[in-house]
Amino acid sequence: MKRIVLTTLAIMMAAGMVFASGQGESGAIDIGIAMPETHVERWQRDGAALLQGAQDLGYRAEVTYGNADQGLQNEQIQNMITKGAKVLIVGNINEGVNSVVSEAAQEGIIVIAYDRLITGSDDYDYYITFDNFKVGEFQGQAIADALDLDNASSDDPKYITLFAGSPTDNNANFFFDGAMSILRPYVEQGVLEVVGPAPMDSSSPDFTRIATENWRPEVAKARMENLLSNDALNVTLDAVLAPNDTLARAIIEALSADAKYDTTEELPVVTGQDAELASVQMIRDGEQYMTVFKDTRDLAAGAVALADALLKGEDTPSIDGARLDTETYDTGLKVVNSYLLEPINVTSDNWEAVMVGSGYYSASDFE
Ligand code: GAL
Repeated sequence: MKRIVLTTLAIMMAAGMVFASGQGESGAIDIGIAMPETHVERWQRDGAALLQGAQDLGYRAEVTYGNADQGLQNEQIQNMITKGAKVLIVGNINEGVNSVVSEAAQEGIIVIAYDRLITGSDDYDYYITFDNFKVGEFQGQAIADALDLDNASSDDPKYITLFAGSPTDNNANFFFDGAMSILRPYVEQGVLEVVGPAPMDSSSPDFTRIATENWRPEVAKARMENLLSNDALNVTLDAVLAPNDTLARAIIEALSADAKYDTTEELPVVTGQDAELASVQMIRDGEQYMTVFKDTRDLAAGAVALADALLKGEDTPSIDGARLDTETYDTGLKVVNSYLLEPINVTSDNWEAVMVGSGYYSASDFE
């Protein structure tokens, strides 16, 4: 039943419909929640948890989904400003959000960047996310461990191809740089060979060649198919660095259609993140190698607690379960107060203990 509800919700939201609830009689709201999209499942969970958390504290709240269209999300945010929002919790799509962040600042509205840093703006002060460099480290270390790179030889190198997240998402840089901080030494030793574009960090000009516009799975699938017919035609891949689960599944779909990889045992190591149900099931079945659990319930609870404290006049409050970092996250115009939650590495060894044990999924989700 739960999944039918989520699917129905996704259809409604993909149509850019406002999923509004808890507005006052006048339609007025206290907290506006703007999520980027629904084609990556986790944002549906974030939006629902944020809305419920705000309402549980007695706030009138509204959540919208931007269908990966910043112009649409800007309209949604402007509507929230018109409705009197005192706080905006924003998971942006790209820097185009800055115009409405400035509008909000001029109205004295507090803006909290949710999971994605709002770059190019000095009109807000707070950001809450996970330690995304560590997410990348988990991905890189999973590949190093699975391929036993410490004992590999440059006479018989292992082969990897690289994917990154959306070039407009600052997180994608952190994920990739975290992963390459682990993998780059093995490339330099010659025991790990990159097939296709080979940026060694996100500042490389080649980073955009491995990035995936708006995290769209169809873009990643097409690129994997192209690699299989060209750069990867005459090698057998041992690993694919995939930045999140939606892309990981699309990449595995492309690999599985190729005779070299059409059995589970022949699939290369494929990484991911977000612990989406379909991917955790594929980890159980040995098709995807790992994911990273970023508990959206905790992120949403932290964001709501931050909004509540700020509305009550606190300045840079402490938030349960989040580490305050006031030095690292630079928008390009200012360093913002950032709250970082801890991600959890998930593999075939611990998927049930973590995902069912935490109550994020139920055992019946895996029957
Ligand atoms: C990132 C987020 C990831 C993943 C990705 C695709 O910003 O940190 O967890 O959800 O977007 O939406």
